Amino acid sequence: MERCPVRPDPADAALFDADYQRDPYPSYARLRAVSPVRYLTLPTGLTAWLVTGYEEVRQALTDPLLSKESRYDAESTDGLSPSMGASMLNLDPPDHDRLRRLVGSAFTRRRMDALHDKLADSADRLIDEFAARGQADLMRDFALRLPVGMIGELLGVPEEDRDAFFELAHDYVGFTPETRERAAAALAGLNEYMAKLIAAKKNEPGDDLISAMVEARDQEQRLTDEELLANALLLFLAGHVTTAGLIANATLALLRHPEQLAAFRANPDLVGNLVEEALRFEGPAELSTMRWAKQDTVIGGVAVGKGERVLVSLGAANRDPRRFTDPDAFDLSRADANQHLGLGHGSHYCLGAQLARVEVRTALGRLFARLPDLRLAARYADLEWMPGIGRAPLSLPIVFTP
Ligand code: HEM
Repeated sequence: MERCPVRPDPADAALFDADYQRDPYPSYARLRAVSPVRYLTLPTGLTAWLVTGYEEVRQALTDPLLSKESRYDAESTDGLSPSMGASMLNLDPPDHDRLRRLVGSAFTRRRMDALHDKLADSADRLIDEFAARGQADLMRDFALRLPVGMIGELLGVPEEDRDAFFELAHDYVGFTPETRERAAAALAGLNEYMAKLIAAKKNEPGDDLISAMVEARDQEQRLTDEELLANALLLFLAGHVTTAGLIANATLALLRHPEQLAAFRANPDLVGNLVEEALRFEGPAELSTMRWAKQDTVIGGVAVGKGERVLVSLGAANRDPRRFTDPDAFDLSRADANQHLGLGHGSHYCLGAQLARVEVRTALGRLFARLPDLRLAARYADLEWMPGIGRAPLSLPIVFTP
């Protein structure tokens, strides 16, 4: 079968130029105007259907004919997916639902509440470390450290291992074709570390998520070793760079919109709206993970052939003018901001959504309370952004009165 029903248009290559990396939304607007479901060559060199419309994205994320399992890809995969193949993120029902239920059962109310109690303290302690300096890299000194600490705590990663563990995770998450080897080595290192941690928790269970997952397995005998490992790794990877990105992106959006910043300062209770609007305006999971058509299907009236890749842009959907009025405006009073797709949609909707929301609300609340004259120390146009499917600045220089 001809796998490529529409030739990628050479003009589409211009969509992913240097400006796209800095600000992808104008590219998405141009693309959506041509077609919200468009076959093209991605910056990774892979061809895929890129979905940029709000309704079309919701449709793609709930289409049972679109699989998360890379075995449906008729061509080669990126070479990094298989080791995570047993994670819920990369599986369809019934395996997906079984794993999500088992892992989700370890996310107990009590465990989340215990974490919440620590959040404000952890945020304050991190701020204490740089408050006297009058300047900081918000990404490195705060936004990344808070969720790494929290997810490390949740999984039961010993304190002394967290920095090294974070470096490995970071190398893997931001991978590009050029850094593929480093990413593969980092993933191997992460696998090895997690396997050791799981073995240690089996011998000596603690009050942590990995021990709870081991126990769930031992009681039901339904989580294989491979699944346990892949899902523990998924929780770590999914739980920190995204959360860090949202803390940074929300801060950045506020600093670039002084009238919104003034509104937030006047009424800190707006922090809930701030988090939802930041997820809409500049969510850190800008593109979803890949999906493959198990059979021919139709998305937004466009025929997608069996074996073809579908990549959904959550960021583009969140700026679709057919769904959000004046979508490029950052506005804390937007009543329907929480209709964003920044945490996904359908059966793979973010498992850590509530945790992420509480983390980011606490982080932003403490940050702006403690550093009332926080300012950006770089031009927005000069910021460098993480490569890959996420959207977060690599670093975010800030200044403030010590
Ligand atoms: C899934 C975003 C934080 C765990 C997802 C998906 C998105 C997302 C968009 C769906 C991906 C897809 O369909 O391709 C985010 C954002 C976060 C965040 C923006 C922070 C602001 C977290 C945290 C955790 C977590 C803190 C765990 C501690 C997961 C898991 C899945 C997932 C386990 C897979 C769910 C499934 O396949 O059923 N997340 N996430 N995430 N997220 Fe999050």
